[in-house]
Amino acid sequence: MRPTALIPALCCVVALVLSFLCLFAGHKKGFMEDYHYLTLNTSRIGQNLVNSTLDLPDNPFTNLINNVTSSFGNEINDATADLAEALGIEDWYSAHLLDYCYGDYTPAALANATVKQDDIHKNISGCSNRTAAFAFNPTTIIENALNESGVDVSLQDLNWPDDIQRGIDALRILTKTMFILYCIAIGFIGVSLLAALPAVFASGRLAACLNILVATLAFIAIGLASALSTAVIVKGADVINKYGQEVGVEAHKGSKFMAITWAATAAMFVALVLWCVETCIGHRRRRGTYVAKHG
Ligand SMILES: *[C@@H]1O[C@H](CO)[C@@H](O)[C@H](O)[C@H]1NC(C)=O
Ligand SMILES: *[C@@H]1O[C@H](CO)[C@@H](O)[C@H](O)[C@H]1NC(C)=O
Ligand SMILES: *[C@@H]1O[C@H](CO)[C@@H](O)[C@H](O)[C@H]1NC(C)=O
Ligand SMILES: *[C@@H]1O[C@H](CO)[C@@H](O)[C@H](O)[C@H]1NC(C)=O
Ligand SMILES: *[C@@H]1O[C@H](CO)[C@@H](O)[C@H](O)[C@H]1NC(C)=O
Repeated sequence: MRPTALIPALCCVVALVLSFLCLFAGHKKGFMEDYHYLTLNTSRIGQNLVNSTLDLPDNPFTNLINNVTSSFGNEINDATADLAEALGIEDWYSAHLLDYCYGDYTPAALANATVKQDDIHKNISGCSNRTAAFAFNPTTIIENALNESGVDVSLQDLNWPDDIQRGIDALRILTKTMFILYCIAIGFIGVSLLAALPAVFASGRLAACLNILVATLAFIAIGLASALSTAVIVKGADVINKYGQEVGVEAHKGSKFMAITWAATAAMFVALVLWCVETCIGHRRRRGTYVAKHG
């Protein structure tokens, strides 16, 4: 029994749990929705058009806005008119590894004199069906929402920028690779944990080397998965914020997701370092015994 081998084994447990959470966060309504990798804030979608379509009486949009604003009893250029709701679009869509979730902001999407920015929370309405290697595609999601709501407004009417789609398409392969890397990482971390158990109860160079080998593979896999997901988050948010601004769409980075994925990577790194230390010390200790016995 080597109690020192318990610590790297424990690190593997932590890394395993965190990687599982990365993969399954938000896989159903109410399960760690905060741990999305990207959230799209569509609550102000089309707001830029509220004013500009005033002079175009033929635009289907003008009628819609008239309906919306009259139902709210507001002036047509009132910036508080909730166009997203009239269009059947949710306030936000959050991307997870297996699906996306959606809902509204409570108590309101915009901060005002009485509602502070910190008081605004996401109220989740539901999540999409789970899909392996799911690729978040805002264009399709919003298009479907528009189709389902039955309003006579298309993405073109909203001036939805093609550049968003181009940016998202470029990230598509990366998003799918991300899923595969998390699965591989979970596999290696699991094996690493299993390989750690014999090491706790028996000592030997072979077991220690095996531990180092498997822990290295696990570390590389979770490290790559974390690096890739960080790239997708940063790049995806950049693209959406850059081109989405003109249509009133913005993206929020999933900082909590990044925190747990890098924490898993760190745990695996510590496990790897501890196995190396363990092997060196174990080796020196054995050699010491040998020298003492045989002179
Ligand atoms: C949503 O986006 C709008 C416009 O981009 C912004 O004014 C608002 O503060 C955002 N809401 C939240 C809760 O982030
Ligand atoms: C629309 O125009 C009015 C003034 O004409 C301005 O006060 C308001 O902020 C504009 N709304 C938007 C969303 O640009
Ligand atoms: C702020 O927003 C809330 C929720 O929409 C609303 O009830 C309240 O009247 C608003 N306050 C002001 C000062 O506009
Ligand atoms: C959250 O949304 C549900 C419907 O999806 C609604 O019944 C509930 O009142 C909302 N909660 C808040 C705090 O607005
Ligand atoms: C989700 O799954 C249910 C049954 O599992 C199915 O009826 C429904 O059509 C699916 N929805 C989508 C959008 O695929």
